[in-house]
Amino acid sequence: MATTAHHTAEVIDAPEEANEVALTEIPPARPVPSLLDDARNGLLKKPRSIPPKYFYDGVGSQLFDQICDTPEYYPTRTEAALLEVHSDEIVAVARPEEILELGAGTMRKTRFLIDAAAQSGTLTSYAPFDISADALEETGRRIVGDYRSLDLNLLVGDYLAGLDNLPRSDARRLFVFLGGTIGNFEPAAAEAFLAELADHMQPGDHLLIGMDRVKDPAVLTAAYNDAQGVTAAFNLNLLDVLNRELGADFDTGRFFHRAVFNEALSRIEMHLVSRGKQRVHCAALDAAIELEDGETILTEISRKFTDQSIAALMEDTGFAIERHFRPANDYFSLVLAKPR
Ligand code: SAH
Ligand code: AVI
Repeated sequence: MATTAHHTAEVIDAPEEANEVALTEIPPARPVPSLLDDARNGLLKKPRSIPPKYFYDGVGSQLFDQICDTPEYYPTRTEAALLEVHSDEIVAVARPEEILELGAGTMRKTRFLIDAAAQSGTLTSYAPFDISADALEETGRRIVGDYRSLDLNLLVGDYLAGLDNLPRSDARRLFVFLGGTIGNFEPAAAEAFLAELADHMQPGDHLLIGMDRVKDPAVLTAAYNDAQGVTAAFNLNLLDVLNRELGADFDTGRFFHRAVFNEALSRIEMHLVSRGKQRVHCAALDAAIELEDGETILTEISRKFTDQSIAALMEDTGFAIERHFRPANDYFSLVLAKPR
């Protein structure tokens, strides 16, 4: 990915066949740590951690999609059901000419929204923005034929590197951030990100954001410890990413997946746990990572919200909530907000 700030987006993958799609690279608008930086800061000292954005190579994106189909992982189907029921109302309030989706992945649920907006006659373009070129290509190939009347702009880049290089537009926009992905941010980072997004939005724009809610810890921990072991495979795949990208020699058989609910911080914490004492070499770091038996690497947090924490987060970052949709079991929140 290009690293120069403030240059224009470039098309990096021109289509050759009918069902191939072009990705547009969104260069970082500010310096952002590389995987090497994150590994140096996170893996060489205790407690060890690595940011969750590195999960999503081709294999990781596919595994995430499989997680969404496990019986235990309720967020996807709960949010999808909310979108199915409420998309018309969301579109009636936001009247989007463009939909820009942050961390779109394979865009399984957005279809409800796009269909409602397309039917209402206002929508002209859909732009999924994601760090995973693999996920975007898969998405693009799947939907291009269905939305011939829309401009489909597949934007590849890191939303943590700022939003300034996203395409500018005078159109009325609906920003969409689904899945509860905001919960993968530390509180300060979530606030900074949403405040930046609010700043970036024009009057008339809206944000639709999904947030997972606090519930019975047994339901929460089951969602991150599915019986088929898909979440475990997703977590362990991160070690393959580190091996490939940094020349490390993690043996995936010598780690296991652990996800626990931290009630005090209202978040799931996902770890890779070392089986036994071991030394892992990392060529790019020119260092060894010495792990004790049972020592963990924190790979993801997934915060769970309440009405109060949702209201506070939106309020503190410059948003006014227009609609707040919840299912009967109160498992998940879908919030439609506008910048104040
Ligand atoms: N929105 C989808 C996918 C959620 S998975 C859903 O609700 O099911 C999280 C998605 O965010 C992945 O597709 C991942 O590639 C993307 N992502 C993670 N970190 C990102 C970053 N820093 N910048 C852009 N996209 C990111
Ligand atoms: C993308 N994100 C909202 C998911 C979550 O639930 O926090 C990622 C995930 N990790 C394990 N399972 C799903």
